[in-house]
This record gives sequence, structure tokens and C-alpha cells, in this order.
Amino acid sequence: MSDLEFSLLVLPSILASLLIFHLLAKRSKQKSYHLPPGNMGWPFLGETIGYLKPYKATTIGQFMEEHISKYGKIYRSNLFGEPTIVSADAGLNKFILRNEGRLFECSYPRSIGGILGKWSMLVLVGDMHRDMRIISLNFLSNARLRTHLLQEVEKHTLLVLECWKNNSVICAQDEAKKFTFNLMAKHIMSLDPGKPETEQLKKEYITFMKGVVSAPLNFPGTAYRKALQSRSIILQFIERRMEERIKAKCEDEDDLLGWVLKNSNLSKEQILDLVLSLLFAGHETSSVSIALAIYFLQSCPIAFQELREEHIEIAKAKKQSQETELNWDDYKKMEFTQCVISETLRLGNVVRFLHRKALRDVRYKGYDIPCGWKVLPVIAAVHLDPSLFDQPQQFNPWRWQDMNRGSCYTNGSSSSSTTASRSSSNNNFMPFGGGPRLCAGSELAKLEMAVFLHHLVLNFHWELADSDQAFAFPFVDFPKGLPILVQHKHNPFPTS
Ligand code: HEM
Repeated sequence: MSDLEFSLLVLPSILASLLIFHLLAKRSKQKSYHLPPGNMGWPFLGETIGYLKPYKATTIGQFMEEHISKYGKIYRSNLFGEPTIVSADAGLNKFILRNEGRLFECSYPRSIGGILGKWSMLVLVGDMHRDMRIISLNFLSNARLRTHLLQEVEKHTLLVLECWKNNSVICAQDEAKKFTFNLMAKHIMSLDPGKPETEQLKKEYITFMKGVVSAPLNFPGTAYRKALQSRSIILQFIERRMEERIKAKCEDEDDLLGWVLKNSNLSKEQILDLVLSLLFAGHETSSVSIALAIYFLQSCPIAFQELREEHIEIAKAKKQSQETELNWDDYKKMEFTQCVISETLRLGNVVRFLHRKALRDVRYKGYDIPCGWKVLPVIAAVHLDPSLFDQPQQFNPWRWQDMNRGSCYTNGSSSSSTTASRSSSNNNFMPFGGGPRLCAGSELAKLEMAVFLHHLVLNFHWELADSDQAFAFPFVDFPKGLPILVQHKHNPFPTS
């Protein structure tokens, strides 16, 4: 038998036998697992369609509710084409995130890698992830927040709010997106708001984003295909900017691009994916969080009032010391604001669940999680769990205060929360994930929200111009863009 005949006839049979053996071994092995209860649904599709059905963002949705009441907080399913363990259990979620790289590993669907790039931080694991993370953390460090970003955040807030006319209807979600996009574009590539190149990039980015959150169908005309085209236009743009820098020998520009060109050994392809993924990570999540805060505050006038009083005090002190721009000490005074931010993130759940896979067989609370299975820690389910958060569906920023002064629904009367349940609340609060992949931009996100709220509540009052509410698709979005009617409020201590 010639080599060719051998390859054509014998090798495939050997491979087929190996495959059958592997599948049988796997199946017999599975039989001995004590899997959590659940339903594997239809072949291949599993229960994906039910899982992804849109629902109100302040709930866990009917699908999840039914599954938890039928099977408990840990159940098995078949999602995104893979056998999956879904966890609404606070303890298991923490266990999964803390054991990243040892028992579990980040595992986003392949389509995410296709669109964000194979070097995107969301899909990288191991040493390469660590290297990219160090760069991002360095760039988003507390020191940079104090020295650079606070001023930039305030400047970009004012740029957006100054265009709001009295008695006009504003699309709050778009305005928040404008703010976070301009901020990130400046911080990452020194792009100035309003310039034609920034606006062109923004346009491409909108198409790109629609594809990131759409079904990954790469056919002509689909949102996914258009997003892949926008991705390459955006990458060409970043590449041009990079080359201009190298040619002009000004790699030390004080932005992320300048920093990586000067301080890292990353390849061109790696830099492009890093820049794109930071733009994505830093823009969408923060803007939706700001829109959610605007939404929750209009539904809770006493929270709005308390927030405004806090910011009037800060503005008053600044006026007395003849300062105009916010500084770090002012930010540290925003205590109730931090409660509003935490409550917004808890109730709105911008990132609802994370994608992981088991690296080996893991046993938890008597259940087996087989090696290779997908694992979805659902952080939203923990934040909305009535056994962990009192009346979890209510917007109650006071729950985050040391001395609980009651919720807006009880109009200031004290609630039954104990110190123990408050500290357990903090422990179960994970809007930014946890473990070695904890959000690199969490401090920047909180700063953005606080500074935006500062100028918003000082200068405006608002109400819904049309009914709208946030839905989980599962990405969180206001279907009508959150239209609000804004009215100027008298700011007794204007700073500029
Ligand atoms: C309220 C706003 C935000 C929320 C709720 C949020 C949430 C998250 C979550 C849950 C993760 C973990 C993903 C996982 O473990 O699979 C994450 C990762 C990340 N976030 Fe954020 N994020 C926000 C804002 C930002 C901002 C402003 C930036 C700045 C650029 C940023 C940069 C990142 C990066 C780079 C990662 C990857 C970290 C790593 O893999 O080591 N995020 N974010």
C-alpha cells in the first residue's frame, strides 16, 4: 500500500474509531456524574432561544425564574450549542471567578472573538491576558484618574450637558453614549470631540456595536457582516493614527496608543485589538449605567433631592474657596452619590452574566461540573435575589449606607436590614465581576457616573417624555433611547 493509499484509507478509519471511542468514554463518564437538575432542550439549540428572550432589566426574566423555582439556583442546560451549568448561586459565582485559570477559564462564544479580535482582552487567557491586563490597569490606575481623567471626565460632561436646552426632549441614552465615547476616544487616541474624524469613527462604531450584540450570522446584509466591515474600517483608522505617530516620532503622546507604542512589545495586530476592545469595554457599559441612573432617579424624587443636596454642598464649598473644577477631595465627598451608583448597578445589571468553562471536573455543593462544560455565573440573579437583598426590585440607594435610613418607598422610615445582611450584600455585589478578571475600568466607570450626576442634578430636573424602560436582550438597552423632558434647575452655586 502506497503512502497515499494509507493516508486515504487507514488514517480516516483510525481517526473515526478514536472519535467513537472518545465519545463513548465521555458518555460513560458522564453517567457517573452527579449533575445538577435541568433540561438540555432541543438538539444543538438547547434552551438558547428561551434564555435570550428579552425581559425587563430589573428582573431575572421568566425563563430564569421558572428554571430556578423548578431546579434550584444551580441547574444544567444546553446554551450557545454547549452543555452548560447555569449558576444563580452567590457562593458558586464567587468560587468560579476566584478560580479563574485554575478550575475555570474565560470562554466567550467564538463570534465575540471574531468581532472583537483574537487579541481582545475579553477572549484572551493565560500569560497574554495577564500582559494586556497590566497595560490596561496601568492606564486606568487611580493615579491617572486623579491627575488626568477627573478633569477630562468633567470637561466631557459639560460639553454634553451644555447643549441641553430648557424644555427640550433629550434622548438620554444617546447623550450618555456621546459622553463616554468622546471620553474614551480622547483618552485612548487623543481624538477631539466634534472633529470630522471623531464623528466618522463614531458612526462606524455604532454599526460595529449593532453587530457585537446581534446573532453571529455572517451573510450579506446581516448586522454581524456589517459590523465585521466596520471593524476593519475602525482598525484601518487606528492603524493610520499609529503610523502617523511613528512617522512623526511622537509616540510619547499622553494616551493609551502613545503608552503602548512606547512601553510595550505588542505587535501591531495586538495593539489594534487592545485599542478596539478598550473602546468597547469602556464605552457601552458606562453609558448604559448613566442612562439607568437617570431612569431610576426620575422614579424616586427623594433620592434625587438627597443627591442634589449633596452636590449643592460640594458646589457651595467650591464657590467659597473660589475653585471651579472638581478635584479628588470633592469626589471623595460624594458619599450618597456612591450609594446611588451602587444601587443603579445592582438593580440595572449592565453585565448580567459571564462566560466561563470548567478546566477540570469540579464538585460544588454535591454537584459535578464536568471538565469542558460551559459555566455561566449569572451576577444579575444574585443582585436580585430576595434572600440577599431586601425588596430587591426597589431602587433603594439607602441600603448602601452604614446607617440605613429607609427606602424611598417607605419615605424615610427605617428598614429591617441588619448590619450582617448589609455586609453580606456588599459581599455579593459583583457588577464588575471578580477575581483575576475584575473589570479594569471599574474606578473610571464610577468616576464618570459621579461627575456626570454632579452636573446633571445641579442644573437639571427631568421626567420621562415617553414611557420607556430598560430591557435585557441580554445586553441592556432602552428601546426608545430613554426620551426625557429636561428643565433647567436654578444652580445656586454655578462654578463656571
Ligand atoms: C458600569 C460600567 C462597567 C461595568 C458594569 C463593567 C463590567 C465588567 C465586567 C463584569 C467585567 C468582567 C468580564 C469577565 O469576567 O468576563 C469587565 C471587564 C473589563 N472591563 Fe469593565 N465594566 C464597566 C466599565 C468599564 C470601563 C469604563 C472600562 C475602561 C476602559 C472597562 C474595561 C474593562 C476591561 C479592560 C475588562 C477586562 C478585564 C480583564 O479581562 O482582565 N470597563 N467589566
